Amino acid sequence: MSVKPTVLKLGGSVITDKGKKLTPNLPAIERLTKEISRANVSSLVLVHGGGSFGHPVAEQYSLAEGYKDSSQIMGFSMTHQAMTKLNKLIVESLINHNIPAVEVQPSSCVVTKAGRIQIIEDRPLRKMLEMGFVPVLYGDTVFDSETGFDILSGDQLVSSLAINLNAHRIVVGVDVNGLYTGDPKTDSAARLIRHVTLEELKKLEHRIEGSKVTDVTGGMLGKIFELKPAVEQGIQTIIVNATESNRVYKALKGEEVVGTIIER
Ligand SMILES: Nc1ncnc2c1ncn2[C@@H]1O[C@H](COP(=O)(O)OP(=O)(O)OP(=O)(O)O)[C@@H](O)[C@H]1O
Ligand SMILES: [Mg+2]
Repeated sequence: MSVKPTVLKLGGSVITDKGKKLTPNLPAIERLTKEISRANVSSLVLVHGGGSFGHPVAEQYSLAEGYKDSSQIMGFSMTHQAMTKLNKLIVESLINHNIPAVEVQPSSCVVTKAGRIQIIEDRPLRKMLEMGFVPVLYGDTVFDSETGFDILSGDQLVSSLAINLNAHRIVVGVDVNGLYTGDPKTDSAARLIRHVTLEELKKLEHRIEGSKVTDVTGGMLGKIFELKPAVEQGIQTIIVNATESNRVYKALKGEEVVGTIIER
């Protein structure tokens, strides 16, 4: 691939109201789409999270524990269906802003093994990038060669795609300013970490928590765990607050921005 792609994750915490089931945040989607359009990145892969579309049903049916009994089957279908609805809102908004976005369904091109990506059919996706399309993936229900099925987080996808596609940069948009020394929503003494190395992260990990609201894939702790292998490969990684205007834009452009840079 000639141009190294940028991988952008839009957190479910940003594009949905995580406190209200199946509720998109349409103004946020619209604004972010405009920022992406303005940034005009030459090669872009978009991944979005589930927020209140993915997590609640997945949790209700214990999908992240794998297949245990037939009552979960409908839960799998419903979780996937909810994610495709959220995905359509994003893809539609991108197309409305003249971005050639194309949905790529993880449930149909990924197989996990005990929760980790084992097989990913990425040939259509690579072709899309080569031709200037913007593939849009998301955290999804997937089939698992050991446990039957699982929830594949958008965060795991971001890291795996960034490594496989030899990405230039990863931008992760969440609803807080970046990585803090504690959960900023519950710990008023938490400080924003502007820059952190993998070595420094080790000392911090016990202080990073999941998420205040339902997040079956581990909230901020899960996110950091997933991002580490990409950082190890030397891929520039930045976490920014995507609920604030222009942070995603600046991060996509490689400009100075409030956030957390994670480096080797
Ligand atoms: N040390 C920390 N620094 C920053 N945020 C933290 C920390 N510990 C916990 N959090 C929480 O993690 C949340 C972000 O993770 P969360 O998984 O909820 O969002 P997301 O990944 O954007 O959503 P989705 O999983 O639906 O894509 C923040 O809203 C914050 O409350
Ligand atoms: Mg999450």
